[in-house]
Amino acid sequence: MKTFKILVIIGFFATAAISCSPERAAIVENKPGVQLWGENCMRCHNTPSPADFNDTDWTTIEMHMKIRANLTTYESKKIFEFIKSAN
Ligand code: HEC
Repeated sequence: MKTFKILVIIGFFATAAISCSPERAAIVENKPGVQLWGENCMRCHNTPSPADFNDTDWTTIEMHMKIRANLTTYESKKIFEFIKSAN
């Protein structure tokens, strides 16, 4: 029982550390755009294929979906750089 409590406490601090911004930023930084795209862009709808729109359209969509998906500038930059590199 004591071991369980210790594990819960360690787990709590590990979770707290991950949600703090420098560590979270480091985690996001290590994720490629394709992964951020997969994680963020199908919460509300199917992810449209990069080939569905041209770069100009994607720039407009970026401004719209960055706000809808509540992305940081860094995250949306990475996601849309990936999308534009794949269409
Ligand atoms: C919080 C929900 C939500 C998230 C997350 C989200 N979207 Fe959307 N998306 C919408 C809604 C709602 C619409 C349709 C209405 C609108 O345009 O606002 C839409 C429409 C779109 C369209 C269609 C535009 C068109 O003209 O047909 C594209 C493309 C798109 N989203 C891309 C993305 C990408 C890429 C991401 C990830 C960065 C993303 N969405 C994340 C809610 C979301």
